[in-house]
Amino acid sequence: ATTLQSLAAAKGKTVGFALTSSYLSEPAYKNIADTEFNLVVAENAMKWSETEPSRNSFSYAAGDAVADYAASGGKELYGHTLVWHQQYPGWVDGISSGTDLLAAMRNHITNVAGHYAGQVVAWDVVNEAFEDNGSRRQSIFQQRIGNSYIEEAFRAARAADPAAKLCINDYSTDAINAKSTAIYNLVQDFKARGVPIDCVGFQAHLILGQVPSDLQANLQRFANLGVDVRITELDVRLPTPADASELATQRSDYQKVFTACTNVARCTGVTVWGITDRYSWVPDVFPGYGAALIWDDNYARKPAYDGAAAGF
Ligand code: XIL
Repeated sequence: ATTLQSLAAAKGKTVGFALTSSYLSEPAYKNIADTEFNLVVAENAMKWSETEPSRNSFSYAAGDAVADYAASGGKELYGHTLVWHQQYPGWVDGISSGTDLLAAMRNHITNVAGHYAGQVVAWDVVNEAFEDNGSRRQSIFQQRIGNSYIEEAFRAARAADPAAKLCINDYSTDAINAKSTAIYNLVQDFKARGVPIDCVGFQAHLILGQVPSDLQANLQRFANLGVDVRITELDVRLPTPADASELATQRSDYQKVFTACTNVARCTGVTVWGITDRYSWVPDVFPGYGAALIWDDNYARKPAYDGAAAGF
């Protein structure tokens, strides 16, 4: 049978999903995960709060479950994420000196990227480092270490896992705008100065009917800098409950995103941020919105499935 992964593979790309391992106990979830996807990313299990809950004490059980699932199914494993201003452990907030925080950040990256070396194809090394206006987000890392924290993170990741592609990842960067241009300028600068960077992730947490018309052009301008690009966290939210007309628009939105990736040679693929609307992060964070994924609350395929398939 045709699956999203067979269509992706035919194009030399991967189609991924964000996995929370506990859901694999549901046969419907596991069946879709097993058959439809050829790449896996941990929805939460490889974040700093999970992997280093106390300083220099690492816990890999949850992350390893995701890695083991990927390996057992012959799927690629994508690492998410080493440095982010959310879901990091409380002890990080207690580090007041920039020198010490830099040491802690390097140690985190060295250990986690080292642990998963040989398993991940790529890492989101730094996640969500920019504001919508293109300025640096004033995260604890930015405030205490300064502008150099991003390149320090990338250098540490390269040393820990020379084979992994190293990506910077963000949201609301799908269009050509101030925020995506700030990342574009960072990639250009890193390339000019020899700072390692291989790829850029575009989260694509989209709103119904709002796929940017310049998405493909935006991906292509990054590809032209000599980096891979990827849609890393796709979902298309709408005001719930969904009606048939909204689901038809959503189908078209999914098709547009998959098509944009198909049309850019250096787009490695598309990852959706979950399988089923039942477990999507969307309703928790955007009240009144949901129904953003490809399978509904009861694991039935939505029109979005046909859109994704048509785009590949
Ligand atoms: C989300 C997860 O889906 C939730 O389960 C968790 O509670 C919060 O984080 N951008 C990212 C992802 O890079 O890591 C986020 O994942 C969604 C937004």
